[in-house]
This record gives sequence, C-alpha cells and structure tokens, in this order.
Amino acid sequence: MAVALIILAAGKGTRMNSELPKVLHRLAGVSLLAHAVGLGRAVEADKIVVVAGYGADFVREEVEKLGSDVEIVLQDQQLGTGHAAGCAAQVLAGFDGDAIVLLGDNPFIRPETITEVLAARASGNDVVAVGFEANNPAKYGRLILQDGGALAAIVEAKDADEAERAVSLCNSGIICAKSSVLFDLIGQIGDDNASGEYYLTDVVALANARGLKSGVVICDESETIGVDSREGLARAEGLFQDRARARALENGVTLSAPDTVFFALDTVIGRDVIIGANVVFGPGVTIENGAEIRAFCHLEGCHISQGALIGPFARLRPGAEISADAHIGNFVEIKNSVVQNGAKINHLSYVGDADIGARANIGAGTITCNYDGVMKHRTEIGAGAFIGSNTALVAPVSVGAGAMTGSGSVITQDVPGDALALSRSKQVNRPGFAAKFMARLRAVKDLKDKG
Ligand code: UD1
Ligand code: MG
Repeated sequence: MAVALIILAAGKGTRMNSELPKVLHRLAGVSLLAHAVGLGRAVEADKIVVVAGYGADFVREEVEKLGSDVEIVLQDQQLGTGHAAGCAAQVLAGFDGDAIVLLGDNPFIRPETITEVLAARASGNDVVAVGFEANNPAKYGRLILQDGGALAAIVEAKDADEAERAVSLCNSGIICAKSSVLFDLIGQIGDDNASGEYYLTDVVALANARGLKSGVVICDESETIGVDSREGLARAEGLFQDRARARALENGVTLSAPDTVFFALDTVIGRDVIIGANVVFGPGVTIENGAEIRAFCHLEGCHISQGALIGPFARLRPGAEISADAHIGNFVEIKNSVVQNGAKINHLSYVGDADIGARANIGAGTITCNYDGVMKHRTEIGAGAFIGSNTALVAPVSVGAGAMTGSGSVITQDVPGDALALSRSKQVNRPGFAAKFMARLRAVKDLKDKG
C-alpha cells in the first residue's frame, strides 16, 4: 500500500514569540520540519506533503532545501487541523494509498509507531489514531473507546464533558486513513465546537456514523512531546541530546564528557571513535571507526575516515573530506576540501576549496586564498608536498608532488613537482644597526621627557 505523509505546519506558533514559523526552529541542528520529513523518509512514504500558512515563503525555502520529494500546499487561513489536512487534497487527488496526518511540531515520533499505524490499517481499521496515556491530559483531545477497544470518537478538551475529561488516553495528533476516505470525511467536518475550528479529530465520529471502523495505536507519551515555546524547544533539545549521547555510548563511542557533546539529527559515528569534551556536530557529519575528535571541535557537513585525528579546536565545514590517518590540529578551518591519507594540517590554517595530497605537510599559518571577492578558486597540493609556515596560496594554484614552499611565501604561480618555491624578499643583516638605532630613539625620548 502506498503511503502519503501530510505534515501540518501552517500554524504560527504564537508562544515561540518569533518572526519564523514554529516548524523552522531548529532542534538537533535541523528544523522541526526536517524531523517530520525525516520520519516520512524513514517509513518510506511515497509522498510527503507540507501544509504551510504562516510564514509560507520561509517554509517553502526550507521545503526546497529538504529535497524534491517534498511537496508544499498552502492553507491561507488557519481554520483548524481538519481544514489544514484538507488542503493536501489538491496534491493527493487520485492517490491510491493511505494518508497519515502528522503535526509538524512533534519531532519525537518514532518510525516504528508509524509502521504500527499502517499495520493497524492493514488489519481492518478504516481510521487509525495514535494515542498515549497522558500524565497530565489537560489540553489534549481524549480518545473515547467503545466496549471491545474500537475508537468511538476523539473529543477535544474544550468540548469534553466531565466523564470525557476524566479519560487519560489522549490524542497524539496522528491520524491515518485511506487517502480518498480521509478527504471525503474531512469534507463533512463542521466548525460548530468550542473553538469554532474544523477539527481533524472529528473524522473518527464521522467514520463511525458511516459504519466504518476506527482503531487506536498506543505510543509512549515521550514520543508525543511537542514544541510550543522556546522553553519547550530547549527542553526538547536536552531530551534529544540525552538520547543521542546514550545511543552513541551504546554503539561503542567513547565520550569523555557526554553532557558537553551535541549531536545533530543525522550524525553518524562509528565504533571506537573517541570524542573529547565540548564537541558540537552540525548536520551531515559521518565519522568512521577509530577516529578521534579532541576537545572543542565544531564539525558540519564533513566525512572523517578511520584513524584520523581532529582537534583540539578544529573547525570542519561542509565538504571537508578527511581521509584515513590525516591530522587536523588546533585552530584549523577546512571547507570543501579533500585531505588525503596521512596528510597533516596541524596549526592555525585555513584550507578552503583545496585538494591536499597524501602525506603532505601543511605548515602553521598556511592560508588558501580561495576567494577573489567574486569567485572561489581551487588549490591543489600534491602528495608529500611540504608547505612552509605562513604560506599564502593564491588560488587557482597548484603545488606539485614532493615540492616545497619557503615559509612566508605568497604563491601565485604553479609550483612543479619536487621544486622549491620561494617568494619573499631576501634577508639583509646590518651589523650593530639595532643597538645604534635604539640608542638614538632613547636619546630623543630623554630630551622630550626633560621638556
Ligand atoms: C491537536 C489535536 C488534539 C491533540 C493535540 C496533540 C485537533 C483538533 N486537536 O490539538 O486532539 O491532543 O493536537 O498535540 O486536531 N495547524 C495548521 N492549521 C490550522 C491549525 C493547526 O496547520 O489551521 C497545525 C499547527 O501548526 C500545529 C498542528 O496543526 O502544528 C496542531 O495544531 P494545534 O492548534 O496545536 O492543535 P491542538 O489544539 O494542540
Ligand atoms: Mg498543539
């Protein structure tokens, strides 16, 4: 059965107190929307549709970044979750499969829960809602069960009577039905309720009135944690990081100070990797087995191979490819560059848009001058080359295999393999000059001090 995921993301998120729509706030390095889309991909959804409204232009930009498999539809006015889900009908017309509605601000739903929902659908339920036993049910919709466990209705807290409010089985917000059935039911929803909104949750009672069957999948309350405020976002971040740290430790990663290491949603770390204190992972980092990341590194969009040694105090930016046994030391920044096996860039360097050959040694303070103010250019360093300290490599430029540059050189022309390139003024020594010069300066100062 084909599956479509409809992500509701039109709300403003008033309590975020932000110019940005709520779903664009970041958790574990990526937007809440990226978490929801990631869930869709994890369950191999055939279609992913985002319903945008508040800040739709910003949401569209993010959707475009997330990939061409994600579609966006607009909900001009936020008239309720039922109305929002209904907006997806335009892109799902003729879609022959199940549609799952997901709230865009619930980043902890596990793929396994969605798989259970699909299984519950396949086993004869026309509508499936995901519920949880709430510690404090106050604001949630209540799942009202029939004898025998089928779902009779979902009643919003504001509309519930006393007996219904006493129910602790609550609505997570996820609802699934065959796409055509869902949109058909949504077409019947009215707004005659305490909020004057079109409640998606009404599809359950409407389905039952038609003689269709509704069922419940239960998940853990921790999966349903949503983000409503900055405080909630910070709490969600803490929760995510706690879990990611625990998972890393279980997977054979050494964390010398787990509470100070921050992972992104998609961080991949191999076995026997050692990570020091205060390391931050942005999105898109993969580290192979046995690499070491020393304290105070910031890594994003990079790949680090087996046995490489990074930091302390290194910054790897998108497109940094660090091959096996390479060393990247303190105060080194690398962007969009390949550092081949065993190469060393150990101190105070900027390497951008460069290819660094195997076992090359890049001296302290080397800078690839990759940007001319308009365009970026590449620097090629051959295998085993030795770049002297404080070399400026003005790209586009290449240094051949086994070549050297004298320290302090500004290299503007290609250097052939095995050559030594020197581009600095020749040193002149003037015997005794310094002593005479200083004496003269002191005499001038003495005269001034005496007035
Ligand atoms: C909803 C459920 C409630 C459930 C709770 C779980 C309904 C009617 N109620 O209530 O049963 O217990 O979630 O958190 O579904 N949105 C739109 N367009 C709209 C309205 C909402 O896109 O017109 C989006 C919001 O951006 C948000 C999500 O839908 O991401 C949920 O909306 P919200 O207003 O927070 O619903 P709740 O009242 O929390
Ligand atoms: Mg809500």
